Amino acid sequence: MATTPVSEKVVRVSVNGTTYEYEVPTRRLLVHFLRDDLALTGTHIGCDTGSCGACTVHLNGVPVKSCAVLAVQADGAAVTTVEGLGDEELTPLQQSFSDHHALQCGYCTPGMLMSAAALLDENPSPSEEDVKVALQGNICRCTGYWNIVEAVVAAGKGVA
Ligand code: FES
Ligand code: FES
Repeated sequence: MATTPVSEKVVRVSVNGTTYEYEVPTRRLLVHFLRDDLALTGTHIGCDTGSCGACTVHLNGVPVKSCAVLAVQADGAAVTTVEGLGDEELTPLQQSFSDHHALQCGYCTPGMLMSAAALLDENPSPSEEDVKVALQGNICRCTGYWNIVEAVVAAGKGVA
């Protein structure tokens, strides 16, 4: 039986400050490119349908669900994943998550951190309401959300 040829395209993308050039199937999702081609498995897959936010990364500084973006759409762009948030040390936001017990199983945490980091980039001192709006696309099955909101507000106030 004849198989349909897979169309491929070269993608050149900066991820966490390193430029990569890969030939990828045009249908490959950004989340699979990050996890399977670049081995950046900090970006999680919860639903693969754009619903849970576990796969959130920054695309040119804007938080996006990487299961809803094709790798070819990132051609020429700068992507930041959770691995690119800090260096060896925890960032104040990450420390605040730890201090406020804002994670349990941790599955949603990379996506929460990336959405929260984008908020803090735009609004360094967000209110509770601001945080709730910014995180509305991120689902957590464990925490009840309150500690996450507290952690982001505290990070914004510099009291993490
Ligand atoms: Fe992308 Fe759930 S895995 S939104
Ligand atoms: Fe478990 Fe959020 S900490 S899903």
